[in-house]
Amino acid sequence: MSGFTVLNMCELFIMHFMIFFIFCYFQETVELLTEFKNFMITYNRTYSSQEEAEKRLRIFQENMKTAQTLQSLEQGSAEYGVTKFSDLTEDEFRMMYLNPMLSQWSLKKEMKPATPASKAAPDSWDWRDHGAVSPVKNQGMCGSCWAFSVTGNIEGQWFKKTGQLLSLSEQELVDCDKLDQACGGGLPSNAYEAIEKLGGLETETDYNYIGHKQSCDFSSGKVAAYINSSVELPDNENEIAAWLAEKGPVSAALNAFAMQFYRKGVSHPLKIFCNPWMIDHAVLLVGFGQRDDVVFIFLWGEDYGEQGYYYLYRGSRLCGINKMCSSAIVN
Ligand SMILES: *[C@@H]1O[C@H](CO)[C@@H](O)[C@H](O)[C@H]1NC(C)=O
Ligand SMILES: *[C@@H]1O[C@H](CO)[C@@H](O)[C@H](O)[C@H]1NC(C)=O
Repeated sequence: MSGFTVLNMCELFIMHFMIFFIFCYFQETVELLTEFKNFMITYNRTYSSQEEAEKRLRIFQENMKTAQTLQSLEQGSAEYGVTKFSDLTEDEFRMMYLNPMLSQWSLKKEMKPATPASKAAPDSWDWRDHGAVSPVKNQGMCGSCWAFSVTGNIEGQWFKKTGQLLSLSEQELVDCDKLDQACGGGLPSNAYEAIEKLGGLETETDYNYIGHKQSCDFSSGKVAAYINSSVELPDNENEIAAWLAEKGPVSAALNAFAMQFYRKGVSHPLKIFCNPWMIDHAVLLVGFGQRDDVVFIFLWGEDYGEQGYYYLYRGSRLCGINKMCSSAIVN
């Protein structure tokens, strides 16, 4: 009699377990679908067909797993999860938004070394508080980060020289810089050279951004800012910080893997996620040290990261952030 009861309880347990399991499975699917739907609404996504939507849902699911992995191994305060890039595979993200030329070290040109800063870096500095940074721009689906990085730097240098903050044209570089490859990537060192050859940059208003290559429409009569040369910064983060605080926002580049998943906070991924030799995204360093020694960076529109900014841990040459720092010089 008692044996019979035990058997019954086992069956009951198994049944319950299965129901529980099925329930969990659906629960997870429902959560995923809800998250995906919210993503589509937030970032205004539509897909051309049911197949495409299903494919994007699967990619989204994979990305959520990657974000969870990054999160579980995070050494800083960053939050990873849904971003505007959550329906793209790593390869698509790289192809559409990043810059393959940056890790081709053989293409890298020798640049003049920068004159060191005259004093050590302060505890913190933020050029956004000093009027040297124009509002966050958006490169769109085009690997033109190199152009944004360089115009951001020149806007800062021009501001330091004249006290006037202009928003300068990236499209001019996408169209007219023959040393680089428009939406296919470019190098800041080439871009400075191209700007010197062209004679300067027009403003954003005069030569506005469309995010794909068209024929060069540059007119020297519309030059709003010029540069005289360019320099390479040392690869020591303290020296970079000192130089930045004294001279203006710095053009830099880094491995952007974690950036596809970044929502906010100070990002400090494990080094395995951030090979410093695989640099693939150019950015603008605008400040440091506000929250636990960080560098902040600008980029993909205001609906990315913290109002368009990414915060990266400073002090361990993370993601190769120290490897390609440069600036234009305006005399
Ligand atoms: C949303 O996307 C559609 C089509 O892709 C576009 O026409 C529309 O302007 C977008 N709306 C916003 C608010 O971005
Ligand atoms: C810097 O470049 C501008 C524009 O090409 C030029 O007019 C100016 O003379 C240059 N300044 C110096 C000090 O070479």
